[in-house]
Amino acid sequence: MLRFFGPFIAPIVGLGFVLALTVAFFMPREAAQVTAQHEFHREPMELHLASDGPFGRFDRQQLQRGFQVYKEVCSACHSLSLVAFHDLEQIGFTKAEVKAIANQWATEQPSINPDTGEPATRKNLASDKFPSPYANETAARAANNNALPPDLSLITKSREGHAAYVHSLLIGYQDQPAELLKKFPDAKTPPSLHYNPYFANLNIAMPPPLAADGQVTYADGTNATRDQMAQDVAAFLTWTAEPKLENRHRAGIAVVLFLLVTTILAYLAYRNIWADKKH
Ligand code: HEC
Repeated sequence: MLRFFGPFIAPIVGLGFVLALTVAFFMPREAAQVTAQHEFHREPMELHLASDGPFGRFDRQQLQRGFQVYKEVCSACHSLSLVAFHDLEQIGFTKAEVKAIANQWATEQPSINPDTGEPATRKNLASDKFPSPYANETAARAANNNALPPDLSLITKSREGHAAYVHSLLIGYQDQPAELLKKFPDAKTPPSLHYNPYFANLNIAMPPPLAADGQVTYADGTNATRDQMAQDVAAFLTWTAEPKLENRHRAGIAVVLFLLVTTILAYLAYRNIWADKKH
């Protein structure tokens, strides 16, 4: 049997594959389901920061402005649990300034009363991490229509688009386009949410945090437009997510230079060794 059919098995299997591919190719395509997200979601606008590229270095003045925006606006709802107050020395604050910032921070650190053992709070120290504005997730959700403001320490790493996404999200709030409502009447933004085409599902629970120009008064005199504040806080959150970025850039350049020199030396050695052998 096998001896008889043997030679035909391979061509038959091959023909089967060809047939399946042909059928698949000519099959009518299912119409992709079109949703409001599909049509109205926008990619982040371009954003250029001093820390971009292999030679990028942080603009410390900008990071300090971004910190000011975090402190005066975002910290009311968002924690920054991976960053300590004394880390601010890396972006140009002095030890004394850091101490004062920690001491005057609006939210105190949870602690325990040494006399009674009861839960208590104390002022922040330079060595403390930034405290969360809420006691726990339940309290955070209760204050935000059941949405949870995420910790911002790593947010620029954890979202596609990175700093540009944060920048666009902050200034991207707008009225829902009439065109969207005409096409998708069911997709009307619920009253507790806010339309923002840069957010994945278009409706975000965060109310527009940067509502007006001049919301903060910058210590360095920079004009605090909404766009400027959004750029600065995006730059600051790039630093919180990767404070050692400059070291990485420096190490990368050193390694490339080292490899370059080694390659040249290896080539010269090769020429030297074979100098009187070839030809
Ligand atoms: C009134 C409280 C509040 C303030 C102030 C606030 N946020 Fe939010 N934020 C939220 C809530 C709530 C969410 C969760 C939104 C959701 O999941 O729909 C959020 C989400 C975010 C997200 C994540 C979006 C995503 O892709 O999941 C980023 C980034 C963000 N906020 C940045 C900021 C920055 C930067 C500031 C300061 C300029 C700020 N927020 C101020 C409440 C706030």
